[in-house]
Amino acid sequence: MKSIVRLQSQSNDIVIRCAPRAEIIYWGPHLTHFQENDIESLIRPIANGRLDVDTPITLAAENGSGLFGSPGLEGHRHGQDAFPIFTTQSISHHQQRLVIEATDEIAKLRFTSEFYLDPDTGVLQLRNGITNLTSQTWQLERLAVTLPIPERASEVMAFHGRWLREFQPHRVALTHGSYSQESRRGRTSHEYFPAMIIGEPGFNEQNGAIWALHLGWSGNHRIQADVKTDGRRLVQAEALYFPGEIELEANDTHWTPWVYATYSGHGLNHMSQQYHSYLRHHIIRFAENKPRPVHLNTWEGIYFDHDPEYIMQMATKAAQIGVERFIIDDGWFKGRHDDQAALGDWYLDTEKYPNGLTPIIDHVRKLGMEFGIWFEPEMINKNSMLYQAHPDWLLELPGYDQPTGRYQYVLDLSNDDVFRYLLERLTALLNEYPVDYIKWDMNRELVQPCHQGKPHAYQQTLRFYELLDILHERFPNTEIESCASGGGRIDYEVLKRTQRFWASDNNDALERQTIQKGMSYFFPPEVMGAHIGNKHCHATRRQHSIEFRGITALFGHMGIELDPVKAEISELDGYTKYVALHKQFRSLIHSGQFWRVDMSDPSIQVQGVVSPAREQALFSIAQLAMPDYTLAGQLRFPGLAPDATYKVTLIDHPDIKPVREGGHTMRDLPIWMNQSIRVSGEWLMTAGLSLPILDPETAILISLTRQ
Ligand code: DGJ
Repeated sequence: MKSIVRLQSQSNDIVIRCAPRAEIIYWGPHLTHFQENDIESLIRPIANGRLDVDTPITLAAENGSGLFGSPGLEGHRHGQDAFPIFTTQSISHHQQRLVIEATDEIAKLRFTSEFYLDPDTGVLQLRNGITNLTSQTWQLERLAVTLPIPERASEVMAFHGRWLREFQPHRVALTHGSYSQESRRGRTSHEYFPAMIIGEPGFNEQNGAIWALHLGWSGNHRIQADVKTDGRRLVQAEALYFPGEIELEANDTHWTPWVYATYSGHGLNHMSQQYHSYLRHHIIRFAENKPRPVHLNTWEGIYFDHDPEYIMQMATKAAQIGVERFIIDDGWFKGRHDDQAALGDWYLDTEKYPNGLTPIIDHVRKLGMEFGIWFEPEMINKNSMLYQAHPDWLLELPGYDQPTGRYQYVLDLSNDDVFRYLLERLTALLNEYPVDYIKWDMNRELVQPCHQGKPHAYQQTLRFYELLDILHERFPNTEIESCASGGGRIDYEVLKRTQRFWASDNNDALERQTIQKGMSYFFPPEVMGAHIGNKHCHATRRQHSIEFRGITALFGHMGIELDPVKAEISELDGYTKYVALHKQFRSLIHSGQFWRVDMSDPSIQVQGVVSPAREQALFSIAQLAMPDYTLAGQLRFPGLAPDATYKVTLIDHPDIKPVREGGHTMRDLPIWMNQSIRVSGEWLMTAGLSLPILDPETAILISLTRQ
């Protein structure tokens, strides 16, 4: 049995000693001269005052062999077999794939680890499985993926958030003890996106060594980084289980969700580029190979006030603006007049729509747009026909009063009758109407999520996936957006079944700048729903110019979220202009390399995309707050070809009026804002471009074209 295995990629390698007990020895930059015996240099000394043997951080991180930290596996058989130790039985290694099977013959358990290191993108996909080899049930309490990281990785970057404020990054020093983030809300959550980035202190967009991981799972989860008292570090990612939730009968295997990990030696941009490229090649699947259609979503335009004639007027206006997909949001089904009733009753409200949906869909299609519609299948209001008929279909613990969330409850998807009902309703509606797109919402958290009295949150997530999978088999051309009160269900596993995320219910361009930046660490623009919202933002009551809203929405899967019928002419002109601009640069934005730029003044936020051949680039410069200095400094562009010459063109800017007298920030513009200039890539990357002094909450757009 060949015991040392190296999986290689262009940017990073992982070396695993597979036997007698499997352990990751190295995870870092790609090695060009590696020899198996190199690993002898890493044999650890034994310290006094502790166990007399070395205790490797194995793939299962078993406490049974003297590791005192967080184990990778916890469980028992009524208290028995609680400290398994696994010895490798088989190794299957083919190119960049590796499967290691290890058993504990006393505890009668098998621990399986699967690795795939994508050679092109450098993303490592891995998961662990546990199998019960005897007829006595094994109660699984925890099963994690454990990755050791080097001692120099002592700074954590992770994300916190809340409704209307997703993907906010924060940093903590990792010097002693643990740093842990978890969601017990039954969804990926706004609060803690399941990812962690750990690196050399001070790592930034361009520099520093970092080790990152994301757990592809849409339910409860925990990610934890630990410093052992001997200084070794590890990070663990796992789905969280409630007591008694996972019981393994004879020969049952339970897997962790897939973990997607990557090492970058060149800071956060390179990490994101590796993830984006991996997603583009391996996970994102669009129904057809066509540009992402620009949306108009009715929610913030009309809410529950559905009038077919008026909706058709909205569609007409939308088409004039250049919209390519028209979506009817919440409010179309029987009895849905507000958010207190009707969830579960997935029948068209014929009082609102006496002629059915067909006239609207025909109208939308005649205008050359696709048609989409909103669903929230996992939910039920007590004020519904469904609840009248099936009060026992709730995901709940009988005998207790559930708190409601948005006046609603969750359906128990493990109940086959519930599952069949939802499938039947969705199938019937999708058969009746040509639906190109579903906005799939999920607006409340899971509390006491029980099926037949036992916790079932994990199973609920699996059944949700199953529902999506069956629908995809039946309607392969219908695309789905994952929405959960905005960005509450965003992860790589749900992305295998969906084509777009609703990043946030907050369409305030200033807030969107940070939300979208946060999301960009793990997701490319083409799956990030980004809409131009009302001038008076509904979430924050702030007002932003159409230029700031337009440029902000440009760098995603663009849409509009308002009532175009009531919009002023100047606003309509603005929507039309930014939709056209998005279409002009769409293929670049949706296929290029994404860059964020660290500026010395953090109130200036810069992002951009550079085409794969470095022929074309588009950058936005957003002024988030009052600038720190009287001059904005230079922007050094990343990702260009040093030996090329680029034409620098100002594509869009706010209404800048340099004034001779005081009172405003700028007297004279930098020269390139009045005329295109030609500059070498090397100069733009190293010396840069002088920036204008921008007002807070404004942005400009620059294109670079290779000459
Ligand atoms: C929450 C979503 O995030 C919104 O975009 C909208 O679809 C509402 N639900 C509708 O109820």
